[in-house]
Amino acid sequence: MAGNVTFTMIKPGAVKKNYVGAILKMINEAGFVIRAMKLTRMSGTQAASFYEVHQGKPFYDELVKFMSSGPIVAAILEKENAIADYRELIGATNPDNAAEGTVRKMFACSVTQNAVHGADSDENAKREADFFFSTFERFYD
Ligand code: CDP
Ligand code: MG
Repeated sequence: MAGNVTFTMIKPGAVKKNYVGAILKMINEAGFVIRAMKLTRMSGTQAASFYEVHQGKPFYDELVKFMSSGPIVAAILEKENAIADYRELIGATNPDNAAEGTVRKMFACSVTQNAVHGADSDENAKREADFFFSTFERFYD
């Protein structure tokens, strides 16, 4: 089922503002099925590792600090064409550029505090899902 699984996080800012329910509603209404989900918090070391592909970029330190600043909701989502469709649902990285009606347009505060993460490839979705979830925490029909 290549391309049908993606990984997301609802980031600390959106969790703190109580947007979890509203964001999950958008995810479900867009046709994604939740296969795994948890409320958890990354340490600084874990956030640095999760985002290691961005190491050295100007926003890296701020991103790691923000992503470990409070709880996040991590989830594995399934839908046909999940990676691309989820990125369309969440909108552009910078909320100023995100289309009307997208998650980031509605719930982001800034480019760093942009409400949600979405995997960008099958390979990264697998890596990111494995980062958070054991096989016992995943539920398929
Ligand atoms: O999350 P997305 O795949 O849309 O963007 P990315 O380029 O993979 O960047 C990862 C995360 O770094 C973004 O979601 C932002 O939170 C943050 N970022 C930032 O703070 N400033 C930037 N100029 C670009 C990204
Ligand atoms: Mg990315």
